[in-house]
Amino acid sequence: MNIVKTISEVRNEVKNWRKQGLSVGLVPTMGYLHEGHKSLIDRACKENDKVVVSVFVNPTQFGPGEDLATYPRDIQRDAALCEDVGAALIFNPEPEEMYFDDFHTYVTMESLSDELCGKTRPIHFRGVCTVVSKLFHIVAPDRAYFGQKDAQQLAIIKRMVRDLNFDIEIVGCPIVREADGLAKSSRNTYLNPEERKAALVLSKAVGLGQELIQKGERNADVIVEKMKQLIEEEPLAKIDYVQAVDAISIQPVAEIKGTVLVAMAVYIGKTRLIDNFIYEA
Ligand code: PAJ
Repeated sequence: MNIVKTISEVRNEVKNWRKQGLSVGLVPTMGYLHEGHKSLIDRACKENDKVVVSVFVNPTQFGPGEDLATYPRDIQRDAALCEDVGAALIFNPEPEEMYFDDFHTYVTMESLSDELCGKTRPIHFRGVCTVVSKLFHIVAPDRAYFGQKDAQQLAIIKRMVRDLNFDIEIVGCPIVREADGLAKSSRNTYLNPEERKAALVLSKAVGLGQELIQKGERNADVIVEKMKQLIEEEPLAKIDYVQAVDAISIQPVAEIKGTVLVAMAVYIGKTRLIDNFIYEA
C-alpha cells in the first residue's frame, strides 16, 4: 500500500486503475484511525476494487479556539491499519497541497447546517463541504463512505452530492462503539480516566431516548428534556445541545414521526463529544 502526499500522484494512480476497469471507493478521514474508521474502510474494500483513504486534518473546518493544533496524528499507525484492512492508497496531503495561500472558494450549505453542530460551530460544515468536494474531484470515486456517528455531516454530504450532481454514491455506515457503549472517536484520547467514565453519559442518554420512544413517547421536547436531565446528573458533563430533528432536513421536530435524528454534543471536561440515534417510524 502506498502513501502519497500530492494530488497528481492520486490522480495518476486512479487513472491507472480506471484504465484497468476497476471501481474505486473513498473513505475521507482526519486520521488517528480507530474501529469506527476501520468499519468504513472494510465496507469500502468489500464493495470496490480499490480503496483510497484520505488522512487530512482539514484546517478550514476548525473554528478559532478549537483543537486543530492538538488533534491527534499518527500516520504510521494509520498506514498499518489501512494496509491490514486492504486499502490500496492513503492520500495524506499537507495543508499547502490542499489550500493555496489565496484560496477563496467555499462550498456552503443553507438550512441543514443551521441546527445541531452548525449552531456552535458556524464555519464547520463550510469547511467539511469544501474539503469533501475537493476530495471528490481529486479521487473521483464511485462510492464514498461516511459514518452515522456524524449524522448531520452525513445528511449534509448526501444533500451536497444531490444538489451539485456529484456522480458518487454516498454510503452511510452504523456507529461503532466501545464495549461499554461510548461511541469510538479520535477525540476519546483526550479523556483522562475519570472523564472516560463520565463520557458514558452520552450513550446512556441515547439508550434512554430510544427506550422512551419504544415505550410510546412521541413528544420530542419530553424526550429531549429527560435526556438532558440524565446528562446533567453527571458533574463533569456540560451540554452543548440535545435536539430532535428531521433526519433529512435537519430541522427541529415537535413530534417523533417519519425519520427522526436525536443528536447531542456534550463537553466532558474540555472535550466535546457527539452521539445520536435515528428513529424510523
Ligand atoms: P473523522 O472524524 O476522522 O471521521 C471520518 C469518518 O469516520 C466520518 O465519516 C465519521 O462519521 C466516521 N466515524 C468516526 N467515528 C465513527 C464511529 N465510531 N463509528 C462509525 N463511523 C465513525 O468526519 C471527519 O473525519 C471529517 O469531517 C471529514 C469527513 C474527513 C472531512 O474532513
